[in-house]
Amino acid sequence: MAEFIGGEDCLVFTMGSLANLGAIPALVQKREFLLVDEKSHASIVDACTLAKNHGAKILIYRHNDIGDLTEKLTSCGKSSGKLIVTDGVFSMGGDLAPLDKLYDLAKIHQAALYVDDAHGTWVIGNNGRGTAELFNLDQGQIDLTMVTLSKAIPAIGGCIIGKKEVIDYLKLNSRSFIFNLSLPPVMVAIALAALDVIKEEQNLRQTLNANADFMKKEFRRMGFDIGQAAAAIVPVFIRNDQKTIQLADRLGQAGFLADPMIYPAVGKQESLIRLVITAAHSPDDLARAVGVFQKAGKELGIIT
Ligand SMILES: Cc1ncc(COP(=O)(O)O)c(C=O)c1O
Repeated sequence: MAEFIGGEDCLVFTMGSLANLGAIPALVQKREFLLVDEKSHASIVDACTLAKNHGAKILIYRHNDIGDLTEKLTSCGKSSGKLIVTDGVFSMGGDLAPLDKLYDLAKIHQAALYVDDAHGTWVIGNNGRGTAELFNLDQGQIDLTMVTLSKAIPAIGGCIIGKKEVIDYLKLNSRSFIFNLSLPPVMVAIALAALDVIKEEQNLRQTLNANADFMKKEFRRMGFDIGQAAAAIVPVFIRNDQKTIQLADRLGQAGFLADPMIYPAVGKQESLIRLVITAAHSPDDLARAVGVFQKAGKELGIIT
């Protein structure tokens, strides 16, 4: 895993959320700063609460807003410890963090950069190395990368990849690593087998991205709002809780599992159906889903 992402070592937690909950609070000490994108995953938000409990200072910057982050980094002062934390692909909006700009900013302000790439790894980038690769960052340039074993890899688990001395430190200081069971062997076996498949069958990633691109094109054509979706997570913004649930029900009745996301999973007025496209979806599956969305979308007054 470390070799693939381009770090010196890797620490495996029982879940991705436990990796965030264990690593982030351990990395910032009292009076040090955590600078976090406001749309970061819920487990990052919870990690901030834990960090705050031991005296770290939390600064939430506006979503992907480099100007706001610059101001906040400047306000921390030169000599204080700073960790920037962001999703690579945002779990609800499916949009990307501008990692090239975040990397430059981190260097200028002597901050470390932590990227949760649960939805980017194995999906985007020429070799599937995720959001960092898409933004032409070299292997190892991101200080810490978190990847889950529960998205592209169909197991459970979460990994932190970084420099060996940091990983060694996390082994002794991440409470969710120390006080939780390790992965069941069957999950390790599934993850290792999946890694072999990913290495050997590069065409799977191409199929996945072709499927996702097809759906994005179709949704835009039908007049749905899919925001800045850039990976295989496609949000269909409905911005009305009741209609979101009704649409998910219609999809369910037609045989499609489509998660309705409403407050507090997303902001108020941001309710959406989150589509998770896979390489296993056939052209017929996708066309049928598009048909159900179009019919229900019209009947519910979401599209015209
Ligand atoms: C961006 C992001 N980070 C972390 C997690 C948590 O991973 P896990 O389900 O392995 O706990 C998820 C998804 O659930 C996610 O979408």
